[in-house]
Amino acid sequence: MNLFSSSSWSLSLVIFTLFVSSLLLSSTDVSGSTFSFINKCDYTVWPGILASSGSPTLETTGFELSKGTYRTLQAPTGWSGRFWGRTLCNLNGSDQWVCETGDCGSGQLECNGAGAAPPATLAEFTLGSGATSGSDDFYDVSLVDGYNLPLVVEPSGGSGSCVATGCVTDLNKQCPTELRVGNGQACKSACEAFGTPEYCCSGEYGNPNTCRPSVYSEMFKSACPRSYSYAYDDATSTFTCMGADYIITFCPSYSKSQKSSRDSSPKTTEGESGSGSSTPTSTQSEGEMLADGSWLAGLAAGDSTRNLASAITVAATTTILILTFFYL
Ligand SMILES: *[C@@H]1O[C@H](CO)[C@@H](O)[C@H](O)[C@H]1NC(C)=O
Repeated sequence: MNLFSSSSWSLSLVIFTLFVSSLLLSSTDVSGSTFSFINKCDYTVWPGILASSGSPTLETTGFELSKGTYRTLQAPTGWSGRFWGRTLCNLNGSDQWVCETGDCGSGQLECNGAGAAPPATLAEFTLGSGATSGSDDFYDVSLVDGYNLPLVVEPSGGSGSCVATGCVTDLNKQCPTELRVGNGQACKSACEAFGTPEYCCSGEYGNPNTCRPSVYSEMFKSACPRSYSYAYDDATSTFTCMGADYIITFCPSYSKSQKSSRDSSPKTTEGESGSGSSTPTSTQSEGEMLADGSWLAGLAAGDSTRNLASAITVAATTTILILTFFYL
């Protein structure tokens, strides 16, 4: 019996198993948060990303998200920045990428450090240091710069209050004429529409005691109770959670069954389709949602990797124990 070769084979197996399991464990041991963007709108959305000064740029600053798809991005602990959805984007006659709402003016698919032109629904984040050192993430959805599409932020995992926030309602349908953009593809804030210190919380109205809700901000607030409706709306609009991942869903309430009863496509000023004929190059790993809408199965991939990793760790430990038992 060739004991030597048999034991060295077993040793190789143990080393290989340990290698694979450590690889899997280290790949799931990411600090920071995963942001998952889901497009449930009946049209293409082009998310834009702006990191606050001092925060690193994420993997992308803008990308295309076709209807029914999702994409995940990783952000490190302490990261701060905002996300929004651009709609009705197209390459114009001068080969510049231009969006009718939320445009960042870069002329490209990526925003490259530029923010959203109002009106735009904004999802704002300041990540804490994660569960290990115990500081909270802060997040909110803001309509202070107006509204362009329904957007909801939902924490996943994490500890603390961790409530979902955002705006499920399609405010474009309820937008007062004086705030409406074009054919109703977005709804301005009163500050943008009228530019007065009362509405903008500027000048002598630049503090929480003098800047009060207006009929316009109250209209936004009643439609979207957890969103910021004016600058000093903090008490009911900022939320915290510790060590969570976040799901950002555009048009959370849209479903195929509603298609016949209401058309949630944004209207364009030129009457052309937002998803346009000029498809931008997209290098993303977008996941297709399943026909029954069970995109959560795809989103849970992170968890199943974790489960797989722990299963392999158990298997490796068992293998070591069995081998030790046989060779002692
Ligand atoms: C295309 O967009 C850019 C940037 O907004 C603008 O400067 C340019 O005039 C546009 N070209 C055409 C043909 O509309």
